[in-house]
Amino acid sequence: MGNSPTVLIMAAGRGTRMRSALPKVLHPVCGRSMLDWVIEAARAAEADPILVVSRPGDGVAETLADDVISVEQVAGEGTGAAVLAARDRIDENDTVVTLSGDHPLISPELIVELVATHAQSGAAATLLTTDQLDPTGYGRVVRDADGGFERIVETKETEGLPGELLALREINIGCYAFGAGPLFSALETIAEDDGERYLTKVFPAIAAGGLGVEMLNTTDVSSALGVNTRLGLAEVERIARRRIVERHALAGVYFALPESVVIDADVTIGPDAEIGAGVLLTGTCEVGPGARIGPQTSIVDSFVGEGATILHSHVVQSRVEAGATVGPFSYLRPGAEIGAAAKAGTFVEIKNSKLGAGAKVPHLSYIGDADIGAGANVGAGAITANYDGFAKHRTMIGERTRTGVHTSFVAPVNVGSDAYTGAGSVITEDVPDGALGISRPEQRNIEGYTKRIDKERAGE
Ligand code: UD1
Ligand code: CA
Repeated sequence: MGNSPTVLIMAAGRGTRMRSALPKVLHPVCGRSMLDWVIEAARAAEADPILVVSRPGDGVAETLADDVISVEQVAGEGTGAAVLAARDRIDENDTVVTLSGDHPLISPELIVELVATHAQSGAAATLLTTDQLDPTGYGRVVRDADGGFERIVETKETEGLPGELLALREINIGCYAFGAGPLFSALETIAEDDGERYLTKVFPAIAAGGLGVEMLNTTDVSSALGVNTRLGLAEVERIARRRIVERHALAGVYFALPESVVIDADVTIGPDAEIGAGVLLTGTCEVGPGARIGPQTSIVDSFVGEGATILHSHVVQSRVEAGATVGPFSYLRPGAEIGAAAKAGTFVEIKNSKLGAGAKVPHLSYIGDADIGAGANVGAGAITANYDGFAKHRTMIGERTRTGVHTSFVAPVNVGSDAYTGAGSVITEDVPDGALGISRPEQRNIEGYTKRIDKERAGE
């Protein structure tokens, strides 16, 4: 397809040093798998097609979007075996860029630069290198006397390696451009080391065949960062997190304490929103313009409308519409919908319930499986008894209705519009529109009680 390179992402490695049951490339960085970051970079570099090599049954193929071709590495170990697995899917006249699924910060610009350098030089293979990182554990690039490519030496195990080799600072980033024909011809010829077929061995083979090997030395350090351990993952995530905050700040978002917030990659925030200290916005969230979040608030997979306020609260899979206020100390559970200018106040838990526009639940309440009409006010200490031990039932409260403090709603129950409930009532029967529902014993006063008790105590 035109000048679009074929991009092959190697994602089948065992990644044993992550010490995790999860395949390495599925570990998340700011809410998105390492592999998805690499795929996103390939898309941004206008790659077509994008192929991902994974192991049968490791769960990676299932995560791939429809525009990505899945290839299985059925046989062999090592990066060379990974590339060989895709042989039948690649035309020998293609330019193929191979990327590692464990370099989540690879930049699209660098991929484009690699392809351009490769095309200009006419080489059969071009590799990316850098000397700006701690080279420990990476493949070292050995150049010949003229500064040309000689070979790559792996340094994960350093035993028996000469000091001058370990002193080399230039590393192989593990991101290459190849002519597909020469790549696969060379791959067939290379021998295995300790049962692994190293892709890095193709470069000497290509050079020995009289074809050119080009190198592109880059200062793009984050593109070069490969993740092999959870410590490496934490380092990459720190960089990604800072970049996300910077991007939002440049787009007009105010951060009270930028270094204290965690914002995932798939979060959008409108201009003039204010993000306080200790805020976590994770998963897929949409925060409207001028919204005020925090301090100390976590929001997961939720929508927050324009100018809404949420403080000291935990919000999961909920919607908070424009101008609504939540908290301090609210817990919105999946399916909570707080209508425009509505309020979920202090120590309020809401689940699978809808508050109409301007409705208020100001204090100390549990609202589950309820529909509360616009403009209603639910008094302090309201509880929906939504579960009868067998099934969940709904509570309906009509528009503009005002319920007294400490009302229990034993669902299923329907309180009409413009109605009231008496303080302390247990509402088990429907309340018609405009009525007062009250259910509590009449008060009885016992005159002279204190005097009588005092006398009894004195033994009179
Ligand atoms: C590789 C390079 C090394 C380079 C480093 C950069 C080789 C032999 N070495 O080392 O020179 O400095 O990357 O980070 O290539 N994979 C498969 N199938 C396999 C094995 C690996 O798909 O059988 C994938 C992994 O998922 C990973 C990538 O290939 O995404 C690289 O493999 P990894 O084992 O991490 O290679 P490194 O030892 O880091
Ligand atoms: Ca690696």
